[in-house]
Amino acid sequence: MAKENKDVKIHEIVKYPDPILNKAGEPITVFDEDLRKLVEEMFASMYEAHGIGLAAPQIGLSKRLTVIDVSFKKNPEDKLVLINPEIIEREGEQYEEEGCLSLPDIRDKVRRAAKVKVRAQNAKGEWFEIEGEELLARAFQHEIDHLDGVLFIERLSRLKKDLTVRKIKKLIKNGEW
Ligand code: NI
Repeated sequence: MAKENKDVKIHEIVKYPDPILNKAGEPITVFDEDLRKLVEEMFASMYEAHGIGLAAPQIGLSKRLTVIDVSFKKNPEDKLVLINPEIIEREGEQYEEEGCLSLPDIRDKVRRAAKVKVRAQNAKGEWFEIEGEELLARAFQHEIDHLDGVLFIERLSRLKKDLTVRKIKKLIKNGEW
């Protein structure tokens, strides 16, 4: 079975400050074989980059599609595809550390809802609702933010954001980003 993934394209992850990361994605209207192939490529690209979530803008595609697997391949039922997702309920608060494949090695605590309910379409275009709490709730909010052109550093305090941006600019200048 090892050969099965050989033909799946691994996409390069777009890094901050690429402007596509600050652009809201276009809704997906066509649910065809190409879309299902793209979903497979996104999972493969996410795993390759050791991530638990990946949004289409992060591979240079301004579309409302994200893949999530908070178990990182351990539980097949944790492999989630969210197309045109919306958060329809939020509850409570959590304040935990986040990272992002588009911001390598940058981590900081972000205030998020503790529990959310999401409405989304699957790769066949069927609508469904799913609830998540703790890490899964964070993943939902972080990834849906990507589809709205929002990065987690934009949710930090002004001071922390400025410090982070300054740090990244320095890394870029030194060719280390
Ligand atoms: Ni991210």
